[in-house]
Amino acid sequence: MQKISVTYKLPEEGLRLLRRYDLKVNAEDRFLSKPELIDFAYNADALITLLSDQIDREVIERLENLKVIANYAVGFNNIDIVAAKERGVVVTNTPGVLTEATADLTMALILATTRRLVEGDRFVRRGLFDGWKPELLLGVSLKDRVLGIIGLGRIGKAVVQRAKAFGMKVVYHNRMPASKKEEKALSVEYKSLEDLLKLSDVVSVHVPLTKETRHLIGSSRLKLMKPTGVLINTSRGAVIDEQALIQFLRERRIFAAGLDVFENEPEIPYALRELDNVVLLPHLGSATRETRMEMALMVARNVIAVLNGKRPPNRVV
Ligand code: DGY
Repeated sequence: MQKISVTYKLPEEGLRLLRRYDLKVNAEDRFLSKPELIDFAYNADALITLLSDQIDREVIERLENLKVIANYAVGFNNIDIVAAKERGVVVTNTPGVLTEATADLTMALILATTRRLVEGDRFVRRGLFDGWKPELLLGVSLKDRVLGIIGLGRIGKAVVQRAKAFGMKVVYHNRMPASKKEEKALSVEYKSLEDLLKLSDVVSVHVPLTKETRHLIGSSRLKLMKPTGVLINTSRGAVIDEQALIQFLRERRIFAAGLDVFENEPEIPYALRELDNVVLLPHLGSATRETRMEMALMVARNVIAVLNGKRPPNRVV
């Protein structure tokens, strides 16, 4: 019987589809270290992974029977896809099903930062609210403000739709500009990355993490942002140079940041945690019950396809 190893418990809807195989699920509420993972998945035909599992060349080479690595995420920067390809191991991801949830969370961070929701909550809990005041915790209006989207993929586009409903103007930067027809349909304008940073009141990052996008936003680019500007990241932490961002937030050289992702997750520098002009979330982009269930179904279908000698619906390599 073919063996499937799952590194962390997933929603039952997905696991149920896999019970006709020899299914092994890490039942502990903790991530496996690399040696534990190799041991756990030894002899597995299929491996289901989280974005926190580092599936490097050594892991791939040690798991000699492996036919497929199905990542429970749309991003797959945790997997050495070159090594997987060389060994003929298929890699799959979960695109599409988490677009709306991640775009919703991006909008939530835009609202939380521009309207200082978390500061307001802390203020009330500390017992400091002693009545309505004309200039208490003033934020920034969204109407007619410019939103700069870096990465106009599925999630970037879904954020555009939401921002339009708030009356924002949208500019974007993408490796390949969209067609004129699509720009018109979305009512967005292409800008160079530098112009986008100079022009935007809110900048939102939606690119995958690759060699090219690591530290895409560092000091020299943060410098271009308006002092009233807000930076949002729901993609991958390392796209932003976290130390540079801390410095800009500390010196109030930008107004605020909203971060769902961090450079060295789950570590979040104390210097970032002590700032009040940043909203920090524990990587919740796709965290709705519906979305996580869809993702579980998707990884299960990808695994089943490969184990049956078919092309999986969401093949990356
Ligand atoms: C992903 O899928 O890549 C997200 O970061 C987690 O859902």
